[in-house]
Amino acid sequence: MGVQIEGMVFDSSAQPADGRPLGEKGAAGASSHERLSQTELAEEDLALDRSLRPRRLEDYIGQTKVKESLRIIIEAAKQRGDVVDHVLFSGPPGLGKTTLATVVANEMGAHIKTTSGPAIARTGDLAAILTNLEDGDVLFIDEIHRMNRMVEEVLYPALEDFVLDIVVGKGPAARSIRLDLPKFTLIGATTRTGLLTGPLRDRFGVVFRLNYYTPEELSDIVVRSATLLDVGVTREGALEIARRSRGTPRLANRLLKRVRDWAQVKAGGEIDEDIAARALEFYEVDSLGLDAQDNRILGLLCEQFGGRPVGLTTLASALSEDPDSLEDVYEPYLMQQGLLIRTPKGRQATERAFAHLGIPVPPE
Ligand code: ADE
Repeated sequence: MGVQIEGMVFDSSAQPADGRPLGEKGAAGASSHERLSQTELAEEDLALDRSLRPRRLEDYIGQTKVKESLRIIIEAAKQRGDVVDHVLFSGPPGLGKTTLATVVANEMGAHIKTTSGPAIARTGDLAAILTNLEDGDVLFIDEIHRMNRMVEEVLYPALEDFVLDIVVGKGPAARSIRLDLPKFTLIGATTRTGLLTGPLRDRFGVVFRLNYYTPEELSDIVVRSATLLDVGVTREGALEIARRSRGTPRLANRLLKRVRDWAQVKAGGEIDEDIAARALEFYEVDSLGLDAQDNRILGLLCEQFGGRPVGLTTLASALSEDPDSLEDVYEPYLMQQGLLIRTPKGRQATERAFAHLGIPVPPE
């Protein structure tokens, strides 16, 4: 299908992607309360988060396999004088999808234009974005699974043949013209590969699933960030922050900032293991990095529902939480920690969850 453009004038509501703020992941992960351990970004954390993000592959810590593959793909594209194939990054929030998109653009010496699935409301919006691209640009679409289907269909020929089909005029006078686009690389990011349509997924040359970081990798990230922020931290102090960061660099950096404040006011300023642990206890981030809302989820499953399976919507309403954020934001880490499992009958707490809460497992 083509973009319907009457008299060749783009809809005035179409906005170029360039410079548009991401609106950092409001909707899908929308949560009614602020969490210190949330992996979405609050406005004030944006600047900090950006300043700490690595710009080159060599500075990027963790995701070793993804990094190695990217290095090869980028080098090969550069040798051929070509653009990198379209890339999809999937995984929970805060694992570095946006950062990696920027790193790819930097390594290619390309400009990056950033937008998000929900921000491209109409086909005209996408047409405006695509026709504003320059040769070699990287177009980054965050939350690409939330793009509207009509818009998605306009994207297909752009991805495959770098062309844009537009329909000019209306009714019997309507005719289709094909515009050539510059060669570009689409980098898509999604927290939910399962929600991507097959045809869209198939148009990515490479799909990378990002995994949670190990405490050692996170501790390296904390040390790097502390150096950039001019904060003193010992190896053990960094590891203590890392262990409570839910496998997520964005959270590790946020906790580092909070611990720095606590250390400055309550201790000598330098962060060691004891200070990190005391500061994080003060902020109610427990030894597994779980916060009050995670513990409420486990508490409900273990106590109120007695360890029996519970449907997603039932659980979400018991928590006054949106089912999407329960699924995207809370569950992945609880599952990764072996505290919660998804069964055909619903969500269920594991024995480890009972142990973590200090509650005896009920008899069968
Ligand atoms: N800051 C945030 N994520 C990072 C990463 N993966 N490596 C280094 N610094 C980071």
